[in-house]
Amino acid sequence: MATATAAAHPNLALVKYWGQRDPALNIPANGSISVNLSGATTTTSVTFDADLAADTVYLNGAPADAETAHRVRVHLDRVCARAGVRDCAQVVSHNDFPADVGVASSASAFAALSLAAATAAGLSLSTQALSILARKGSGSACRSVPDGFVEWLPGCDDASSYARSLAPCDHWDLRVITVAFATTPKAVPSLEGHQAAPSSPFYQARLHEVMRTLAGVRDAILARDFDALSLTVEREALSLHAVAMTSRPAARPWVSGILYLAPETVQLLHAVQGWRRDGLPVAFTLDAGPSVHLICEGPLLRQVLDALDAAAPDRATTIVSRPGRGAWLVQENDGASAPSDTSCIS
Ligand code: DP6
Repeated sequence: MATATAAAHPNLALVKYWGQRDPALNIPANGSISVNLSGATTTTSVTFDADLAADTVYLNGAPADAETAHRVRVHLDRVCARAGVRDCAQVVSHNDFPADVGVASSASAFAALSLAAATAAGLSLSTQALSILARKGSGSACRSVPDGFVEWLPGCDDASSYARSLAPCDHWDLRVITVAFATTPKAVPSLEGHQAAPSSPFYQARLHEVMRTLAGVRDAILARDFDALSLTVEREALSLHAVAMTSRPAARPWVSGILYLAPETVQLLHAVQGWRRDGLPVAFTLDAGPSVHLICEGPLLRQVLDALDAAAPDRATTIVSRPGRGAWLVQENDGASAPSDTSCIS
C-alpha cells in the first residue's frame, strides 16, 4: 500500500483562459496569468492498494458523483500508466470552501490530485511536469501547481503547455475578496464556454488583444503597479464575457448567448467603478459565473470590506485571500490545510 496527501489552492485568472486549441489535451487558445488564492484549499489523499477491486473517490465525506469519479479515474490512469502501477486507488478529497462560490475547485482539485497520485505512485515530478499532468485533468489546474503569481504558457503540444511562477507569494501584498451571491443563474460549465467561444464574432479580436493584455498584466505584477493592473484586468474579464454573451453553445439552441452575470453582479461592478472614481483603488474580475472577485492592496483591505458591506450587505459568501503557494505535499499533523491568519470565509 502506498499513500500520499497533497493540497492546493484554487487560482484566480487575471488574464483568462477562454477557448481551446486542443480540447483533448486542454491546450488553450491563449496564454493566461493567475494568482493562487490562499483563502481556499483542497486537500487530497491517494492510496494505491492491491486489495481494492476498483478505484473509489470520496469528495467532502461522500462518494463523488459519477461524472466527477470518472474524471478522477481517467486522471489516475494517466499517473498509473506513467508509473507502471497496476493497483486501484482510494481517493479522499476535501474542500475547505463551499461549492458554487465562484472559485474553481477543479483547479485546486486536479493540482492536489496530481501531486498526491504521482507521489503515491512513486513518481518524482518537476513543477513543470506536474503542471502538464494537472492541465490534462482541468486546464486551469496547471496554474495551481507553481507558487504565487503564475503564467500559463499556452504552447502548441503536450510538452510545451504548462504554467510557471512569475513571482512568489510575498512579491506583492495583494488581496482578493471573492464575493458570491445566493441567487445564482444555472451554471454553464466552462467546458461548454470554451467550445462555444469560436462562434463569437469577437473571439478572434479577443485573442488578438490578449497578447497585449498578457504583457501589460505581467509588467504590472512585476512592477507592483496597481493602477496599471486594475483597468487592464477589468477590461480583460469584460472581454471574456463579451465573447461568452455572443457565442452559441451547441447544446443550448434556445439561448442567444451565455449570460453568466446576475443582477447582483452588475450592481457590484457599478459600485466598484464608483469606488475608484472616489479614490479607492480596487479592481474587479469575473470568471464563468456570477461571483465577483475584488482585488486591492493589503493595507486597503478594511476599507474595501467596509465599502462592500455597504454595497452588497446580502451577499452569501465572502472569501479573503492573499497570493498563495503552489501545490504542496502534506505531512501528517502539519496542519497545512488550515486557512492562514488573514483568510476568512463567512
Ligand atoms: C473562466 O476549463 O479550467 O475560469 O471547468 O474548472 O475545469 P474547469 O475550468 P477550465 O476553465 C477556466 C475558465 C475561467 C478562466 C480561467 O480560469 O482562466
